[in-house]
Amino acid sequence: MGVAIMWITGVVYLFILVNVVYSSKPNIVYILTDDQDIKLNSLDVQPKVKSMLIDEGLFFDNAFVTTPVCCPSRSSILTGKYTHNHQTYENKPERGCNAPSWRQLNEKKTVGYYMSMAGYKTGLFGKYLNNYALPDSGVNVTHIPPGWSKWFGLVGNSRFYDYSVSNDGKRENHGDDYEKDYFTDVIKREAVQFIKDSTQENKPFFMYIGTPAPHRPATPAPQYNHTFDNHPAPKTPSYNYNSTDKHWIISKGTPPMSDTTKMIVDTLYQDRLETLLSVDDLVGEVVATLQTAGVLDNTYIFYNSDHGYHLGQFNQQGEKRQPYDEDIRVPLIVRGPGINSGKKTNRIALNIDITPTFLDLAGFTVPEDMDGVSLKPVLFNTTNMWRDDFMVEYYGAGNTPSGCTGEIHPPHGQQVFLHDCHNNTFIAVRTISDKYNNIYAEFYSTDAAPIAVGNTYFQEYYDLNTDYWELKNTYNSADNAMIQQLKERANKLYHCQGQSCH
Ligand SMILES: *[C@@H]1O[C@H](CO)[C@@H](O)[C@H](O)[C@H]1NC(C)=O
Ligand SMILES: *[C@@H]1O[C@H](CO)[C@@H](O)[C@H](O)[C@H]1NC(C)=O
Ligand SMILES: *[C@@H]1O[C@H](CO)[C@@H](O)[C@H](O)[C@H]1NC(C)=O
Ligand SMILES: *[C@@H]1O[C@H](CO)[C@@H](O)[C@H](O)[C@H]1NC(C)=O
Ligand SMILES: *[C@@H]1O[C@H](CO)[C@@H](O)[C@H](O)[C@H]1NC(C)=O
Repeated sequence: MGVAIMWITGVVYLFILVNVVYSSKPNIVYILTDDQDIKLNSLDVQPKVKSMLIDEGLFFDNAFVTTPVCCPSRSSILTGKYTHNHQTYENKPERGCNAPSWRQLNEKKTVGYYMSMAGYKTGLFGKYLNNYALPDSGVNVTHIPPGWSKWFGLVGNSRFYDYSVSNDGKRENHGDDYEKDYFTDVIKREAVQFIKDSTQENKPFFMYIGTPAPHRPATPAPQYNHTFDNHPAPKTPSYNYNSTDKHWIISKGTPPMSDTTKMIVDTLYQDRLETLLSVDDLVGEVVATLQTAGVLDNTYIFYNSDHGYHLGQFNQQGEKRQPYDEDIRVPLIVRGPGINSGKKTNRIALNIDITPTFLDLAGFTVPEDMDGVSLKPVLFNTTNMWRDDFMVEYYGAGNTPSGCTGEIHPPHGQQVFLHDCHNNTFIAVRTISDKYNNIYAEFYSTDAAPIAVGNTYFQEYYDLNTDYWELKNTYNSADNAMIQQLKERANKLYHCQGQSCH
């Protein structure tokens, strides 16, 4: 028996040694959901995210995005840059999304490219950028952005059925058969296969997994359809709240919600949660596969969303593109070697920090032109110094003026209040320190960047220490000297680049 134990111990040591020698660089898995809120508690319905990530890792209580809309935020995640530096202003190619300018300016400076330079096998699974390989983007499915060893990129925007992907440059069309086509599950199977293949190769791997959930149309898997039928959308204090002191879209644009509208919001809320159950399954299988392959202890797993979401706050139906916390706060959880389990941190983490963090964990020098910083000192709890503010910026899409004030959108067949309208443009400074928890926002009557900072037509200020739900705009009564400082800070951050953003 003693010999057997010694033999087993020896094998275990050998196994550990082999792992240390051959894969000293950690693997990194990034799971990015689409439109997942944190402030409306969507994470609560995901038991595997809880047991496998939150209980085993570090939870960021103050994770934010620097722009609350898909393509710009994803561009920030991929490049480590603020919108004003990567210049993807909205979701359409004419606003920079997956446009020729994106390919010239940024595509060789994304996380995929740098991770391949750092010696990683890289794989992207799911949504890349909203217009990827659509006819008006200037590229088709044969275009694989530089740096990706495995490319399984969704054509266009999030869908659950009836979509196409570029599978390593070849078009693959999918229909509406749950077993074969449900997109969250398809991504899950591809990701699992990639892990199995990569662990045979003794090369560190990096995975970027972009789920369609819980974005509209928020189509649940059949086994989860109706799971949350009896869960109405949370009635936060700001739910269907008439706000007359906010910028024009909110104070004048939107009437209180009718009973029909409330029902639409409830249904969307339920569908969103149901789609997140499939994401939960994906998390479960990814973690189990890493464990079976013997690499879980040498893998960092990040769980994140491209921005938040509001559902009925200030009378607005399901949407983003506003500066309030529902839209700019996101889930961020990280587990992996050296990170304490089951802890929370109140340090500010941003979408622009994601790529610098990956590069730092990979032992690759973070390029100086990145605006974000590595979160490694927070992950390993080795610093007392940290930022206490950041900038939020958004540039109106300039679509239909009526989009802001309600119209029937054919894809949804419902009355929705999309905010991709004219002059929904703002910059804001969000501060979280021992003393302050506030946001100052300036609104601009333009869609075009650059904006003339200072030439604002409206301001808002909220002290979230006393007004957590941002009900009352106290710009006019706020301390003058403080507002002056915030104005200067907004101006400075609007022009920041690299080091000057830190
Ligand atoms: C896709 O783009 C490539 C490169 O621009 C081009 O050569 C090819 O003809 C295009 N294929 C299709 C089907 O449009
Ligand atoms: C959910 O169930 C309803 C009927 O109760 C059905 O109309 C709908 O198609 C189902 N949706 C999905 C995604 O299975
Ligand atoms: C909200 O505004 C509408 C008119 O736009 C009014 O009918 C309603 O009574 C207001 N509700 C509250 C709670 O003030
Ligand atoms: C960081 O370290 C401090 C001091 O040792 C400790 O009190 C705190 O709980 C740690 N935080 C995390 C997130 O691990
Ligand atoms: C916003 O744009 C519309 C035209 O699209 C214009 O009529 C309106 O005055 C603008 N509002 C503000 C506050 O700039």
